[in-house]
Amino acid sequence: MTDPSATFLLFGATGDLAHRMIFPSLYNLLADGLLPDDFLIMASGRTEMDDAAFRRDIDKALQKFIAPDRYDADVAARLCAIILYQPVESGNAAHFAKLADRLDGRADRGLTVYLSTPPSLFAPTAQGLADAGLITPTTRVAMEKPIGKDLASSKVVNNGIGALVDECQIFRVDHYLGKETVQNLLALRFGNVMFEPLWNATAIDHVQITVGETVGLEGRVSYYDGVGALRDMVQNHVLQILSIIAMEPPARMDSTAVRDEKVKVLRSLRPMNGDTAKSHSVRGQYAPGAVGGEIVAGYIDELGTPSDTETFVALKAYIDNWRWQGVPFYLRTGKRMPARQSEIQIQFKPVRHSIFGRDGQGSGLEPNTLIIRLQPEEFIRLLIMSKRPGLERDVHLEEVTLDVSLTAAFAGQRRRIAYERLILDLLAGDQTLFVRRDEVEAQWTWIDSIIDGWKEAGIKPSPYAAGNWGPSSAIALIERDGASWHD
Ligand code: BG6
Repeated sequence: MTDPSATFLLFGATGDLAHRMIFPSLYNLLADGLLPDDFLIMASGRTEMDDAAFRRDIDKALQKFIAPDRYDADVAARLCAIILYQPVESGNAAHFAKLADRLDGRADRGLTVYLSTPPSLFAPTAQGLADAGLITPTTRVAMEKPIGKDLASSKVVNNGIGALVDECQIFRVDHYLGKETVQNLLALRFGNVMFEPLWNATAIDHVQITVGETVGLEGRVSYYDGVGALRDMVQNHVLQILSIIAMEPPARMDSTAVRDEKVKVLRSLRPMNGDTAKSHSVRGQYAPGAVGGEIVAGYIDELGTPSDTETFVALKAYIDNWRWQGVPFYLRTGKRMPARQSEIQIQFKPVRHSIFGRDGQGSGLEPNTLIIRLQPEEFIRLLIMSKRPGLERDVHLEEVTLDVSLTAAFAGQRRRIAYERLILDLLAGDQTLFVRRDEVEAQWTWIDSIIDGWKEAGIKPSPYAAGNWGPSSAIALIERDGASWHD
């Protein structure tokens, strides 16, 4: 880590992500006095406009995306006062020169560049900056996903940026790593003594990771179609959660130690092929249905054209290492699910020998389950066995819940936008919560094996009515193994 950078140069500043997440996060950080003194935001996009027009747009966005009880016109005005806007077309040297002019020597004091643009513009933008003298050894470059659409194209993106800045200056954003609850997985695993001895194939039967969304395409047709749930959600967010759940304990909480352990897990994912893709994966696409009591259109109707893009995917994954040998990781994510719900379920094995009931039958004994709900509520729930009160001679067991509501335990503490944490770390130069190149490449290697498997086996998405947890084959995927999804 070095001194916090006081200059934030945002490309894609007129885009949806900037309006929804980045500026509201900067607003919150400013309101809490967490931005460095003399902070300047240089916003840039292709649209021609002046500082005043851009500031008006940002104020509107803040009013829309900041909760009414937090929006304060004075803070918004203070934020707008430190924003400049400079239109830049990639490949236009004069535009970059103008940008450098307006930055007025600030690049020498450490520039933080945030690329919230399509990945095809990452390298040309970085090149434009380099030509204008804005890339120095202290420049940090953050990149939003998608980093490519497969391993080969991700290498092109990484090589393009890597030719201009060193890996230690590159910050690949996966906003799930900025979520408090995802970081809390580290606290749960490595801040408590009781989980780690059981966190392996000896005690764990299987793991489930679900990331369900109720939204559909949300007007993102041009991005989403042809990408689909596997690349949009599993390649990054779901695999990052999996790597934190499955990794070995890092020696310390720093960017090298943590990312070294995550990448080992990602590299141990068993690749799929045409055969395993048939038995270990399910692709779905939402058809018309109802979500939250509202009738919604199917994907194809929203799109207006037939498509083979999956909006749901369920996978049975294996991590081929000592700790996880033989433990299936069931992963599923989809749009137009019945609930916006992200959670991890750790299903423990039954006790080795039951002393209850005849041959262990009829006593009510069930294996333990740990449920970690990431969103929308935040809780950790451990299902344990307890004796049902009563005078029966045979002990009857019942599942009871050890329930920790993090929302209640930390009531009064505002839940931060994931980007607040990430922007602060970026300004401070801490890469721990950003994705290293070898992680992205290991993620793509596994995803490519599934996509190739789908091609080889001719697997197309099966329809599911919106408002369901995917096609029925997703239920069969896990029930074949004698387990069931935790809904
Ligand atoms: C994005 C995906 O990365 O994550 C979107 O591109 C998805 O399709 C979003 O909706 C989900 O993020 P969150 O924070 O709402 O769970």
